[in-house]
Amino acid sequence: MLTRRWPEEVETSLFKHFDVVLNKDDIPLTEHALKGAFRSYDAVFSTVTDRIDDSVLSGDNLRARLIGNFGVGFNNIDIKAAKRLGVVVTNTPDVLTNATADLALALLLSVARRLGDGERHLRGGGWSGWRPTHMLGREFTGRTLGIIGYGRIGQATASRAHHGFGMKIKIYSRSSVPSAVLSVNDAEQLPSLDTLLSSVDFVSLHCPANSENRHMINLDRLRQMKPTAFLVNTARGSLVNEKDLVAALDAGVIAGAGLDVFEAEPRVNPGLIERPDVVLLPHLGSATVETRNAMGLRVLENAIAFFAGREPPDRVV
Ligand code: DGY
Repeated sequence: MLTRRWPEEVETSLFKHFDVVLNKDDIPLTEHALKGAFRSYDAVFSTVTDRIDDSVLSGDNLRARLIGNFGVGFNNIDIKAAKRLGVVVTNTPDVLTNATADLALALLLSVARRLGDGERHLRGGGWSGWRPTHMLGREFTGRTLGIIGYGRIGQATASRAHHGFGMKIKIYSRSSVPSAVLSVNDAEQLPSLDTLLSSVDFVSLHCPANSENRHMINLDRLRQMKPTAFLVNTARGSLVNEKDLVAALDAGVIAGAGLDVFEAEPRVNPGLIERPDVVLLPHLGSATVETRNAMGLRVLENAIAFFAGREPPDRVV
């Protein structure tokens, strides 16, 4: 069962391999409906809008043996519960790396060069013509980008920023990153998050949204950033305490933020909506035709392997 509609091309491919049930209205399933799906179908192909926690999986008559998550992030799924109940979980790594890194750069450029602000200004009829002091942003070429989490997407973002815009790269990662990997983008690994935050002009988040990382960016951490620095988040909303971010922006603690993800999607803190110094996108990181097709095909590939009795290539648990 597909919990949401997928691009037509991939739904067509799915139908060739499996007896597929669609959520025709494409409205997120309630907890009750999800619970039912796990009791009615052999596999549930979920995505970020499905909260698959213990209460959905536990209980009588569990039928599904596979959760094929359409997305690389799987913080929407209680992995421990799935493991305990013998439900295999797969995700879709690699295929959305470029699209997400592109969007991180787009947000970085947008917030530094005030693209959202400028577009609203023009469309609102407020533009009276060119002048030397109009809507000045900040230069990013040659500035320093701090990357938190140096997996595939962090590295791809660093590569664009370094090789495309001559940015210096500093990273923070819990594990030690091999020097061969660092040297690709001439990146410097800093020993702590605090040293990274205080020494960069832009911060881009690329770490997993586990319980340890919840609200890793809070008021104290924002205060460690330079007042001219910008924050970009294309990972997960839970990494940032949104209330603290609004307070920090109000107090001029940092210069602005570019956000693609939010704590309680699709709700966005009204304090952010009102601000001109933030750029806000509706979780578009992987939203290209090519990438969404590739994500669907990746779920399919994993499901084919699973039901043929082979190890799914992207098994998470
Ligand atoms: C991902 O793959 O994690 C995207 O954010 C969609 O969930």
